[in-house]
Amino acid sequence: MEKGVDMAENLIIAEGGKEQKYELLYKQIEALVAGESDTIANMANIAAMTHYTFGFWWTGFYRVAGEELILGPFQGPLACSRIRYGRGVCGTAWKEQTTQVVPDVELFPGHIACSSLSRSEIVVPVWQEDKVIAVLDFDSEHLATFDEVDRVWLEKIVALL
Ligand code: SME
Repeated sequence: MEKGVDMAENLIIAEGGKEQKYELLYKQIEALVAGESDTIANMANIAAMTHYTFGFWWTGFYRVAGEELILGPFQGPLACSRIRYGRGVCGTAWKEQTTQVVPDVELFPGHIACSSLSRSEIVVPVWQEDKVIAVLDFDSEHLATFDEVDRVWLEKIVALL
C-alpha cells in the first residue's frame, strides 16, 4: 500500500520538515475524506491528525451557526464555546473571508484568549460551495509559529471538506 494512504488504522507521522509533513498529511486526509461524507466526522479526524503530527497547542474547528461561531471538533485544552461574527481572530477570518496569520496574538486587536498560553495563531475559513461554513483554528504556545507554508497547506486541506 502506498505510504501515507494506509491511515484508517495507522496515522503515519511524517519525518522531516513542515512541508514534508503537510504533504503526507494531505494525502492521508484526502484518503480519509474520500471514504467519509460526514463533515463533522472529517473535522474530528483532521483536528486529531494535525494535532498529533505537529504537536500544536490547540487544533480545531468552529462552525458557523447564524450570527456566531460554535465550537466544533478539536484537540487540546477546553476552549470558548461561542464567538460572535467579526470578533477575535476566528470571527475576523469568517467576516473577512480570508486566512488570518497572527505571529503574536497580543498584537491582534480583539484577540480572544481562550488560553493564556497561546502566543500565535492561524485561522483558515472553510468553504462549502460559496459560503464559509466553519473556520479551522490552530494555536501555538510559541510566537510566530505559522507562516505561508501553513496557510497554503491548510487552505488545501480544508478544501477537501
Ligand atoms: N483565539 C481565538 C479564539 C479561539 S481559541 O484560540 C481556541 C480568537 O481570537 O478568535
